[in-house]
Amino acid sequence: MNLLGDLTTIGNSDEVVEVFNTNQERPMDAPSGTGKPTLSITDNRTGKTYEVKIEHDTIQATDLRQIKVNADDFGLMTYDPAFMNTASCKSTITYIDGDKGILHYRGYPIEQLAERCSYLEVAYLLIRGELPNKEQLDDWTTHIFAHTYAHENFKKLLEGFRHDAHPMGMFISALASLSTLYPCANRIGDPKERELAAYRLIAKAPTLAAFIYRRSMGFPYAHPDNSLSYAGNFLNMMYRIGEIKYAPHPVLEKTLDVLFILHADHEQNCSTSTMRGVGSSHVDPYSAAAGASAALYGNLHGGANEAVLRMLDEVGSVDKIPAFIKDVKEGKGRLMGFGHRVYKNYDPRASIIKRLADQVFAITGRNPKLDIALELERIALQDDYFIKRKLYPNVDFYSGLIYQAMQFPVAMFPVLFALGRMSGWIAQWAEMITDSEQKIARPRQIYLGHAKRDVPLLIQRS
Ligand code: CMC
Repeated sequence: MNLLGDLTTIGNSDEVVEVFNTNQERPMDAPSGTGKPTLSITDNRTGKTYEVKIEHDTIQATDLRQIKVNADDFGLMTYDPAFMNTASCKSTITYIDGDKGILHYRGYPIEQLAERCSYLEVAYLLIRGELPNKEQLDDWTTHIFAHTYAHENFKKLLEGFRHDAHPMGMFISALASLSTLYPCANRIGDPKERELAAYRLIAKAPTLAAFIYRRSMGFPYAHPDNSLSYAGNFLNMMYRIGEIKYAPHPVLEKTLDVLFILHADHEQNCSTSTMRGVGSSHVDPYSAAAGASAALYGNLHGGANEAVLRMLDEVGSVDKIPAFIKDVKEGKGRLMGFGHRVYKNYDPRASIIKRLADQVFAITGRNPKLDIALELERIALQDDYFIKRKLYPNVDFYSGLIYQAMQFPVAMFPVLFALGRMSGWIAQWAEMITDSEQKIARPRQIYLGHAKRDVPLLIQRS
């Protein structure tokens, strides 16, 4: 690897540190590379040169701390709001190539997992590291289904909410309340406790979600049917009214299961980073999952599926699309369900969901908003504004249309995202807890406030 390349400047003109970018052509007067996996940094404030190790195309931020003007300086830091270029962990769970539109869980392409596996197999893969064989899957499924029932207190908890409370607010509270029922879960160093919490979170999340739906509809709660599949049981708890035995439509059951798979993990996204960050204080995983769900709730993340449907309603009809796109380009709102921090190509999950939509609509009837979505996509994909910024449909653009066709209320959409993402959160949390390089998450800041000053008495303040 070429050690010395183009000169990049960090800092203002008075304080310049030269960083030689090893990936670019080196300056004319630079010495040729030695192939050594290190980076040489010259601090122009002092004239000193430092050599820091490059591993996995990354330098350790703490290696920069040795770069000081005076012995009592704190040392050099990096400034990276929103973590645009900072890796916070080493992980073996999910791989994304955003330029090529590739997503793998533990090395397996998402397309194959969606076609060949069930959600519970994928959850096992994410958490345990390998796909289960038949015996392992049976054992895993038995353990999860042993925990599907929710404590009766949940009914009282949910009754405390106003009739029109957003399901996601209730879901976050319900997850947090699990920590009060299972206080041993704060023994996060005990693998048995971690395993138990994983079973409970995966098992109980759909029960809580369905209870929340039924509470908001005023329907009596429907208890789990452990003879059904994971997705089938969820549909049973959502929609069973009066039947002795609920039989989910096999295509809708399979579709929901695939949607759970597509949402299961996405490396260090906002909610997963929250799961890790909250969990890094060694709080129990239920509280960390509540924090992760809260992060997911926002419109820029898992709340986007709900926002897409509201946007399609607002657009109303295909003829209003040009005016809507014009407003977006003028900064008067975003095209929800478009764009991604990592994908600069078509989100592979969106391609799968688009195909699933046809199968679902063949059963439920076509969602009339599909025409608006397809036309929005067509126009956006040929518009310079979106092309230049590499904005493509993401996972949330089409998922809501399917959820709506399956009769899920729009406000439930982020909860559905959370159900799928639960296994990823658990896998990432467990990886963080068992990683000896991890510590409590605690970013630094650049303090730009006042220097020390005396507090004036109240009467002295104007
Ligand atoms: N509509 C219009 N313009 C957009 C959009 C959009 N959806 N997304 C990004 N841009 C523009 C943005 O205004 C900026 O333009 P400029 O360079 O002129 O200032 C440029 O593209 C870069 O945007 P950014 O906000 O710096 O990009 P980011 O990486 O910080 O944000 C994002 C990623 C997903 C938050 C953003 O694309 C967005 O807000 N999308 C809509 C919400 C959405 O669909 N979220 C779901 C994400 S996928 C599911 C998940 O994992 O949660």
